[in-house]
Amino acid sequence: MEAVSPYVVAEPVLDQIVEQYRDRPGMLLSTLEAVQEANPLKFLPVETLVQVSRKLSVPMTQVYSVATFYSFFNLKPQGRHAIVVCRGTACHTKGSRELLNSVGHILGFGCEPDEMEQGYTTSDNEFTIKTVACFGQCAQAPVIAVDGVIHSNVNAQKLIKILKKVKSS
Ligand code: FES
Repeated sequence: MEAVSPYVVAEPVLDQIVEQYRDRPGMLLSTLEAVQEANPLKFLPVETLVQVSRKLSVPMTQVYSVATFYSFFNLKPQGRHAIVVCRGTACHTKGSRELLNSVGHILGFGCEPDEMEQGYTTSDNEFTIKTVACFGQCAQAPVIAVDGVIHSNVNAQKLIKILKKVKSS
């Protein structure tokens, strides 16, 4: 018998979520959102996508299209803390590339800056760092988000303070 990944949402939980959104507007989107939230590593493993497809009777191609279209869906395990650095033009001009590199140095990621640009999760699943094209707060550039909280006008000193707080939580 094939082993079930420990990171797949348990079937009773999945069933409950599916029934909660069945036949409602935006059924697929809401279901995937809730299932991802229920996953301890905040992602949608392929096994989960298959289950959602089967339980909602929605073609797998459609489920996969939705899961890959929206940037808030993750197909890979995410860290306990999420750090998002804006790499839009305004933030780039105000030094967001240096901020990105500094996050890697301060937290000791030991990866290349380009890996962080693409999205990087530490092997202990403590941190995920990724980039975004614009937070829509260009006047306050550079902008980062840590665990969903936006920080604007971030400089080196402010970054150290923010990350110190995250590391201790
Ligand atoms: S470019 Fe960073 S908030 Fe717009």
